Amino acid sequence: MSKSPNFLLPALGGTALVLGAAFGLMNRDYAADKIDTLETRVEQVSAQASSAAENAKAEAARATELEQKVAEIQAAAAKQTAGGTLAEPAPRIEGRYGLGRAAHPEEIAAWDVDILPDGRGLPEGSGDVWTGEEVFVDYCASCHGDFAEGVDNWPVLAGGFDTLADKDPVKTVGSYWPYLSTVWDYVHRSMPFGGAGTLTNDETYAIVAYILYSNDMVDDDFVLSRETFMDVEMHNADGFIVDDRAEAEYAAWSTEPCMENCKDEVEITMRSVFLVETPPEGGSNSVMNPVSVKGLPSFTAAGPSFIPAAAPKPVDAPASETTDVAVVSDGDALLKHGEKVFRKCSACHAVGDGAQNRVGPQLNGVMGRTMGSVEGFKYSGAFAEANAEGKVWTAEEMSAFLAKPKSYMKGTKMAFAGLKKAEDLDAITAYLASFAE
Ligand code: HEC
Ligand code: HEC
Repeated sequence: MSKSPNFLLPALGGTALVLGAAFGLMNRDYAADKIDTLETRVEQVSAQASSAAENAKAEAARATELEQKVAEIQAAAAKQTAGGTLAEPAPRIEGRYGLGRAAHPEEIAAWDVDILPDGRGLPEGSGDVWTGEEVFVDYCASCHGDFAEGVDNWPVLAGGFDTLADKDPVKTVGSYWPYLSTVWDYVHRSMPFGGAGTLTNDETYAIVAYILYSNDMVDDDFVLSRETFMDVEMHNADGFIVDDRAEAEYAAWSTEPCMENCKDEVEITMRSVFLVETPPEGGSNSVMNPVSVKGLPSFTAAGPSFIPAAAPKPVDAPASETTDVAVVSDGDALLKHGEKVFRKCSACHAVGDGAQNRVGPQLNGVMGRTMGSVEGFKYSGAFAEANAEGKVWTAEEMSAFLAKPKSYMKGTKMAFAGLKKAEDLDAITAYLASFAE
């Protein structure tokens, strides 16, 4: 802005020179013409000059305005970083997006129901122990017991003092909860179970008073309200500490991680096995891993137990000292096919040398044997019954069973959908027959 007056000087100076020259050299008429022209120009130039000055003034004003705005925004940002109070509304930036509307105070109040440990947020109202007992018996006692002692496995709300260090601590509002605000807030928001949000403020005050009374923390004439709220001393108020492990212990257990060439030699200690086929009706073929459960497959460094170390070799001679056994006549081709079909069974059954019970019983010598007779295997009632009746595995029975296990043997726990093809049934029966007891 300070530059604008200077702007006039060269312009007028130049005009004065031109004027002088005009008087000296030209005749009058010419000179008069010229003067008119020059006068017009002088007017133009000074008009330009003053409008430039005007513009500069306006720009300066705008700059000041902007400077002020920047300062305002900076101040607001600084305040935010310093952590403005939570109650303060977020600064509104004019003209942003133009979406939505400011929330009504009623809307905010409906959401803003939390109670802080110092009682902030508590609504108007009060309730005494005896009213609390009535309401509690109506709304809460069916689960928490008349005296907050807990019915069956529903939570106990009273007692348990000095059990917190035990192996099986009884954590209740009385023994464990550090803040009364949590009790009020929790009950008000979420109880009675299934009827959350139905308690009035007065009912909540009364119930909380009663829970405190059940815990011997207040006398029977106690009235809970905003005013008396902070008088209640919670048994376990000092039982919680701020978790400072990140500062206190982190250094002790953190080491620089190795990021490359961390092992000299790579050694495979376990293999993951993907054992999936279309799940049988009503069940899954996935296999659990509790190594300890007898009869279930286990996983070890050597590999999972349900994958035979080597596919079992058919015993050369037909295995039957017994009578009712399918004759292995078609020779190798049939057995080979049977071995393939048996892969569907091998997640649960073992056969061959040293075969053990797994999810299902081991199947050595199953053909011609009494149903449900493998020692140490826990059969379903259905098989126990068949066993009691003395039913025997003939080729026909076996085929019928394996075609549709669940309909052949109602109640069997063999979760296998069945073999559809007749050739598979023949082959598996022959294959099973090739393993002696
Ligand atoms: C239908 C059964 C039922 C009713 C009725 C019921 N509650 Fe509960 N209450 C529960 C269950 C279940 C829990 C545990 C909920 C969870 O852990 O998520 C619970 C938890 C609680 C707890 C927290 C206990 C703790 O130590 O974790 C309090 C306090 C409580 N209820 C108070 C009440 C009050 C007060 C009423 C009556 C207004 C009430 N309940 C009615 C089933 C019930
Ligand atoms: C998902 C696991 C599972 C699969 C797969 C499975 N079985 Fe079974 N099997 C069992 C269980 C469990 C039993 C015991 C059933 C009972 O007690 O009800 C059983 C029982 C049997 C029996 C009766 C044994 C006896 O001692 O009486 C035979 C035979 C049998 N299965 C053959 C097969 C054949 C063959 C296949 C493959 C075509 C097969 N199973 C697939 C789990 C399975």
